[in-house]
Amino acid sequence: MISTAAAAAHPNIAFIKYWGNQDDALRIPANGSISMNLDGLETRTTVQFDTSLEGDRLILNGEPVQGDALARVSATLDRIRQLADLQTSALVRSENSFPTGTGIASSASAFAALTLAGATALDLCLSERELSQLARTGSGSASRSIPGGFVEWQAGTDHESSFATSIAGPEHWDLVDYIVLVSGQHKVVGSTQGHQLAGTSPLQAARVADADRRLELCRKALLERDFPVLAEIVEQDSNLMHSVMMTSRPPLYYWEPGTMEIINAVREWREHGLQVCFTIDAGPNVHVLCPGSDAEAVKRRLTSLANIKSILKCTPGGPAWLLEPEISGV
Ligand code: PMV
Repeated sequence: MISTAAAAAHPNIAFIKYWGNQDDALRIPANGSISMNLDGLETRTTVQFDTSLEGDRLILNGEPVQGDALARVSATLDRIRQLADLQTSALVRSENSFPTGTGIASSASAFAALTLAGATALDLCLSERELSQLARTGSGSASRSIPGGFVEWQAGTDHESSFATSIAGPEHWDLVDYIVLVSGQHKVVGSTQGHQLAGTSPLQAARVADADRRLELCRKALLERDFPVLAEIVEQDSNLMHSVMMTSRPPLYYWEPGTMEIINAVREWREHGLQVCFTIDAGPNVHVLCPGSDAEAVKRRLTSLANIKSILKCTPGGPAWLLEPEISGV
């Protein structure tokens, strides 16, 4: 028996960040978060359940992968198999449209695409909410790559109550995210490990206690397309997360000298009237956000900076979607 489906999803950039869990195994987050899906980047995944396979197999960007990455994929497939009451192994082929090793996190788009393809291959008619819950267990931020556009993940308290929904479609606001790849990158601590360290920082409790205020400000600024308010809260939220990272035990320092250079430049440009702000995930790259009207001016200034490797342009993206599957021999 062979049953196959293929799906794609965009990664997302968090405006209000997820960092730390109430429950590490289920990835129930310590606080809610808000993000924008990134059109211009995508993961495409085919899941082929096949009774002739003796175990799950993963092919990532054309290369067979084993170890932790395969175990994590198998854990998500196990949840899907459990819902279908089936034990058949699967061949998973996944490709990222963006270069690997650049520090652009792909786990959000990867687990969103895997969840949608896997559930579809087994004919499970899952709602967006159920898909978001399932994707969350593979990678927390993947819950936000299932719905489209601007998305809020409500923290909840258990598997049922923790999922993401769209708060506005991609057409709501023509924001641009320039992902600025900073040079001199070395291998960083992955987010799964990072979340587990969050609670060791004395600042995490204060960050979480203030999260509802930030979520409300961000949600309102997004709905009203109020860039000045969005800029202040997005930068403060990113700085709060990095303060927790830098004060955890052991500390996590994700920034490189080039990161700080871009932060300073962005703040100076904003003081001089440009609508622009920054946010940074678990790596040294800087996401530089601006409304479409300011995008050309921001791009010109970014390209004049030293210490940057390259710049990728993203705009608001839609939800995870199904593709025509290509069946391959195992
Ligand atoms: O989904 P994870 O475990 O890769 O965590 C994502 C963490 C951040 O990217 C740093 C923040 C976020 O909300 O996306």
